[in-house]
Amino acid sequence: MSQIEGRKCSFLLCLGIVVCSIIYWLTRTKSVGEPTTSGPFPTECQPFVSGTEKEEHYCQNDRQTNRLTLPKDVRGYIHSGSLQCSNLSTELHFINATLSCEEEHYPLAFIVTIHKELEIFVRMLRAIYMPQNVYCIHVDAKAPKEYQEAVQNLASCFDNVFLSSRSEKVTYAGFSRLQADLNCMKDLMASPKAWRKVINLCGQDFPIMSNRELVQYMQSKEWRDKNMTPGVKQPATMKHRTLFQHQEIVGSHVAPRVPRHFKGPPPYNLKIYFGTAYYALTRDFVDFVLKNKIANDFLEWSKDTFSPDEHYWVTLNHIKEAPGSRIDGGWEGAIRAIKWRDQEGKAHDGCKGHYLRDICVFGVEDVPWIIEKKGMFANKFESNTSPEALDCLEEWHRNKVLNHATVPIHPSWLLHSQINSNSSLLKQQS
Ligand SMILES: *[C@@H]1O[C@H](CO)[C@@H](O)[C@H](O)[C@H]1NC(C)=O
Ligand SMILES: *[C@@H]1O[C@H](CO)[C@@H](O)[C@H](O)[C@H]1NC(C)=O
Ligand SMILES: *[C@@H]1O[C@H](CO)[C@@H](O)[C@H](O)[C@H]1NC(C)=O
Repeated sequence: MSQIEGRKCSFLLCLGIVVCSIIYWLTRTKSVGEPTTSGPFPTECQPFVSGTEKEEHYCQNDRQTNRLTLPKDVRGYIHSGSLQCSNLSTELHFINATLSCEEEHYPLAFIVTIHKELEIFVRMLRAIYMPQNVYCIHVDAKAPKEYQEAVQNLASCFDNVFLSSRSEKVTYAGFSRLQADLNCMKDLMASPKAWRKVINLCGQDFPIMSNRELVQYMQSKEWRDKNMTPGVKQPATMKHRTLFQHQEIVGSHVAPRVPRHFKGPPPYNLKIYFGTAYYALTRDFVDFVLKNKIANDFLEWSKDTFSPDEHYWVTLNHIKEAPGSRIDGGWEGAIRAIKWRDQEGKAHDGCKGHYLRDICVFGVEDVPWIIEKKGMFANKFESNTSPEALDCLEEWHRNKVLNHATVPIHPSWLLHSQINSNSSLLKQQS
């Protein structure tokens, strides 16, 4: 698209937004103050939970209806010889237009590392997908061939979704996990999309903020031009991670070398931080990570440490040389809503699903907490053990995304169950 066409498009889109906003405001003001939900569950989740607070009782029929949102066999669908990309995006209810000027002017990049559960991936992708953004998918090199092909087929239907050009065999807590992100970063720097910040996700994350909320959050006073890497100075209990040399048993685990080998001090006397492996980084910071000597030397030093993804980003984000760094930063940043086992009774009231490696795999009754937490994303979800949590959040999230839209809503953007439930979203704009 030429620049002039681009400007014209922006102008028309903005004009449309102003008109829509006025209409929206006029029709909305009437209902301000009315409660929008009844009971502790979002209305979207009521098909899954009847009798709200009392013993929950899942309504199988409604759930079956909702699950038709995706073709019964996603794998088969994506593999099928008759696959037509124009058809796929509509059938899977992907949103194929930019929903506001604000979002158009602030494209985001996403790095998604996955290795299983095609269905959850498709549902997460269609929740975060917007045509102005760009998505690098890292599929674990250990994943079955047919899984890799299915993801490749899906990606080939979008000009802004691609698989990383290099793929690692990812080991939990290994350097390979960090390398997977770096592979995607290299590819994203080469992408023609002028993305502003990059966010990384894994296959068990699901968005809580709409794309528009993400864009607003990224541009808020606190985070504009800053990297979000929640974390603190390495606590004593984590010292062993970088004090001793470790070995990655590819595809299995990471273990300290036997007998113990001390590592040398970090290059440039860097002070090691410890934090989450999840981030939102500026484009300049990514450029720094890929090209700067401090970043490269520190990466080399990190190769035989334990879980370098939990110290690499956050340490670099605390040095003055790094663009957008936050020297005094701590745990701030709504990067994830997670229920840690050791925070039970403090940060949350217990896991209603079950714990996996001390992190809650959400059940449907965790949904009110997740929503209240107002994180960018929540983690963890599984489709085999408690699919209802994802079913209900998915609908709640799509409703929010469409409510935040400033352009007319195409009927194919409604999920199957929203069409059946006579969604108010289409009525709003007629
Ligand atoms: C998509 O393709 C399938 C199979 O080829 C077809 O049955 C269906 O009607 C198509 N849907 C649309 C919206 O074109
Ligand atoms: C989005 O998809 C719908 C359904 O296929 C199509 O009618 C519409 O023109 C598309 N919109 C854009 C902006 O591509
Ligand atoms: C759908 O909405 C219309 C208009 O609000 C209403 O008359 C109709 O009864 C609704 N249908 C269902 C199935 O809820």
